[in-house]
Parts: sequence; C-alpha cells; structure tokens
Amino acid sequence: MSRSPASTPAPVVVRTRAELAAARAALEPATVALVPTLGALHAGHRALLDRAAELAERVVVSIFVNPLQFGPAEDFNRYPRTLDADLAMCAEAGAALVFVPSVEQMYADTGGIAVTVEPGELGRMLEGASRPGHFAGVLTVVAKLFHLFRPDVAVFGQKDAQQLVLIRRMVADLDFPVRIEELTTVREPDGLALSSRNRYLSTAERRTALALSRALWAGSAQTEQAAVLAAAAEVLAEAATADPPLQLDYLALVDPNDLSELAPDYVGEAFLAIAAKVGTTRLIDNARIKIGPGP
Ligand code: PAF
Repeated sequence: MSRSPASTPAPVVVRTRAELAAARAALEPATVALVPTLGALHAGHRALLDRAAELAERVVVSIFVNPLQFGPAEDFNRYPRTLDADLAMCAEAGAALVFVPSVEQMYADTGGIAVTVEPGELGRMLEGASRPGHFAGVLTVVAKLFHLFRPDVAVFGQKDAQQLVLIRRMVADLDFPVRIEELTTVREPDGLALSSRNRYLSTAERRTALALSRALWAGSAQTEQAAVLAAAAEVLAEAATADPPLQLDYLALVDPNDLSELAPDYVGEAFLAIAAKVGTTRLIDNARIKIGPGP
C-alpha cells in the first residue's frame, strides 16, 4: 500500500485485495462512490470522478484492464495502459483510494475463475451479438468490484449504454446494495464521443469516425421511428464510401430499459445505438431520442 505525503491530495493506491480491504475499512464511516474503469482515463472519466465527488464523501476508483470482457481477437494486449497519468487524474479529482490489481490478483488467486455472472438474453443483443461473452466479463468484474469496495453508489457513463442497462439489471435482480448513477457522454467539440480507443485512430480514421455522432444527430432531428433510422442510416451509408470507410456493425432503435424492439405505436424515449469499425478500431455511440408526437 503506498500513501502520498500528507500535504498532497494523492490517493492511497492499493494492488491487492488485502490492501484494498484495509484501505476501504479506513474510510469508514464515510459514504463512498466508486468509479470502475479500464484505465486510460480521459475527460469522460474526469466527469465521472467529479460526479462521484458530488454523490459521496469519498471517491474510490478501480483501474483494471479486465481480460474477461475482451474476446480472443480483441485489443486486450494493446489496450492503452497509462497508469501514471491515470493516477495523476485521480489525485486532481480528489479520489481517496485507487485499486490497481493484477490479473492474477483478480482471478488467479482463487485458482482461476469458475463462476461468472451470466447476463442472459440482454447480454446477447447488440454489443453482445458482436462480442460474445463480453457482458459476462463486464458483469463478473463489476460484481467483484462491488463486493470488494462495498460502495454506496457507483458511477458509469452513458456511452456504454447496454452495459449500464445490464449493470442496473444485475443490481436489481441480484440485490446488490448499491445505487447506480449514470452520466451523459462527454464529447469532443466536433461531436466524437470520448473513448480510450480514440487514440488508435489516425487523422483520416478520426474524420470518418465523426459519422457516428453525425448519424445520431440526424436521427435525433426526427420523431418517427422509420424516419429516425433512415436519417441515421443515410449518414452512415455516406461514411461507408469515405476513405477510410466506416464499416457498420449495427444501427438500432430500441427500448432504453430492456433493449427490446419498439412497438409500432411506441411513444417515449428510445435509444438509438450505433457500432462500427473504422480501420481496426471498433467504436460505439448512442443517443436518447424522443419518439412520437408531443413536446
Ligand atoms: O466501462 C468500462 O470501463 C468497463 O467495462 C468496466 C465497467 C470498468 C468493467 O471493466
């Protein structure tokens, strides 16, 4: 366990479960808000940390590139690891405690993980269809982090909207005593949703990637389901002919609570979601859209 000099606000950084248990106990009786992350922190994470600080007396953070949520052909090995900068951001945000476990610490010291959290049908749709096993990996690590940190509240970004739906369901269905708070996606001035994976993009790829947010805006200008999808699809089709091209995985307009298809007469908020590849980088984005007549 390392602690910075008392004069600086740097958080306590712990690497093992035992260290975490001791550091967490030392925070009692303060209320605690958890921001779980894969690291490579950016302004979107900073917004989560700032919101966490509004919600509880102490902010705690996990930085862990979780192998369980990456497929065999995905970017686990090259996922950006920027621990020094991450810890500096946690310190600036006034975090009290940062947990930076190794893979062995999280999974191997119980002899390897045999039991995981199965997300069911919700985990096989949209992102889950393209990334089999992804959400079991996410829910399993989030469940472990909830047990290890025992937070009063945990804060997640809306960019990973399906993840949020599933975490809310896990908390409700399995009675985790934690409140889930969500925060709007933070964007670059030109609309690109902040993501740790944006750093993979070349300048030309980044230009093509802007089609995701442009498609969401085009869809958001409509209120009728077919028109929403058509407006977004038009932008994405144009980007598919760009150099480099956007390769669309899915464009979907679904119920924000259970990701089901909308009934033809649906009125209310819907969730417009896009996943696409530009070069070798997979990007997701989404927007909440008002469907039907009315203000
Ligand atoms: O959204 C993320 O960064 C990750 O999926 C999470 C929630 C930290 C689990 O590894």
